[in-house]
Amino acid sequence: RRSSSDSYTSVRLSETQPKKRPMWQTVLIIIAIVILVLAFLTFLAIWVAVPIAFMQSIAFQRFIMFINVDSPKNPEYNNPEKYDIRGVINFYITTQDLDNFTLVNIGNWMILHEEEIDNFRERANTNQSASQILANTKKPIVIYMHGVACNRVKPVATYNVIRKHFLIIAPDHRGFGDSGPNVELSEAGVVSDTVQLFKWVRSKTNNDIYIWGHSLGAALSTHAVKVLKEEEDIVPMGLVLESAFTTMREEMIHHKLGKIFKWLAYFNQTILDPPERNGFLFRTTTNILSVDCPIMIMHAEDDDVIPYFLGKRLSEVASTKRNLTTQGKVFYHQFPSVGYKHISLTDDPKVPGYINEFVQECMEANKARG
Ligand SMILES: *[C@@H]1O[C@H](CO)[C@@H](O)[C@H](O)[C@H]1NC(C)=O
Ligand SMILES: *[C@@H]1O[C@H](CO)[C@@H](O)[C@H](O)[C@H]1NC(C)=O
Ligand SMILES: *[C@@H]1O[C@H](CO)[C@@H](O)[C@H](O)[C@H]1NC(C)=O
Ligand SMILES: *[C@@H]1O[C@H](CO)[C@@H](O)[C@H](O)[C@H]1NC(C)=O
Repeated sequence: RRSSSDSYTSVRLSETQPKKRPMWQTVLIIIAIVILVLAFLTFLAIWVAVPIAFMQSIAFQRFIMFINVDSPKNPEYNNPEKYDIRGVINFYITTQDLDNFTLVNIGNWMILHEEEIDNFRERANTNQSASQILANTKKPIVIYMHGVACNRVKPVATYNVIRKHFLIIAPDHRGFGDSGPNVELSEAGVVSDTVQLFKWVRSKTNNDIYIWGHSLGAALSTHAVKVLKEEEDIVPMGLVLESAFTTMREEMIHHKLGKIFKWLAYFNQTILDPPERNGFLFRTTTNILSVDCPIMIMHAEDDDVIPYFLGKRLSEVASTKRNLTTQGKVFYHQFPSVGYKHISLTDDPKVPGYINEFVQECMEANKARG
């Protein structure tokens, strides 16, 4: 009886199975086809359409180079208290664009030296007021060049560290914040604005002037120091490069976005070469050879935007390919992985000591230059 019931079951199974199997197979085949089509479309979209769009569009390249979006959003430049910082003057200077005709409006924050916050009570948010303060300050001055994806309000924590040593002038690059606004954003354009800003500050004071750049701002600062020397015969007191890269080409290869594309056979033709053809070079390893003042380079090991070995490599180029006796020493400070990442290494308690040591060296180098 048992065997007959077994055979009955197996007969029923073998009758129904052939009917169900095509259903399962059909569903599986459809799912597989959909997945394959989606994967193919994703591949086309990410690894074909994006590189080709990038290669073809200068606007796309410009945006990826500069990422000129506001952070914080809706900045209130005339209301620094909102950002927990006092002793700030918001002012504008006018520069000439590369055509020697169009005027560019550059928005700046002047962040008074910590010890001078109360000295300049009658301050107004005008360039006349900024000029008067520059004429009367006893402190050295630093021009602070910020990086991408922010405006001059963002680096408040860094300002609070370096204002213990300097009076800070922090411009927004053309196309960032309220600077520009309707002029072309380019490496040459920002460098030209920076040279003109430096000359404006120089015309107001005889105090020492340093340049400090963070990230892309470090590349822009170094390029500006080269142009200041070659076209204006001006050498600043010192150059500080915070979380800097070697060249934009190398940065694109090592950036996490670049890594998504760098295995492509057409990576160079679509991603690396087109920005260079359009003048987005940021070749700091070349520009730094023209820097005739001491240089301080700082990088955190846990920087996840610009890997620290690029900063280290930059310091090696600066100290092996420049004449340290005539062009100035190089200081390199690497910070351990404790969470500073790309933007917060100035939180390290060693930074004030490093700045003092650097300023001391810059004053000696300046005396030697005569
Ligand atoms: C000072 O600011 C005024 C008004 O914002 C502007 O017209 C003028 O060009 C500025 N001066 C300089 C030297 O940039
Ligand atoms: C602007 O002026 C500089 C020097 O005064 C000159 O070298 C340059 O060719 C000029 N540019 C244009 C577009 O006229
Ligand atoms: C692509 O560029 C990289 C970095 O500059 C270089 O090392 C490599 O040889 C280039 N590859 C080709 C195929 O040109
Ligand atoms: C650096 O320049 C000085 C002065 O010109 C020269 O005596 C010295 O040999 C140079 N050092 C190097 C490493 O080239």
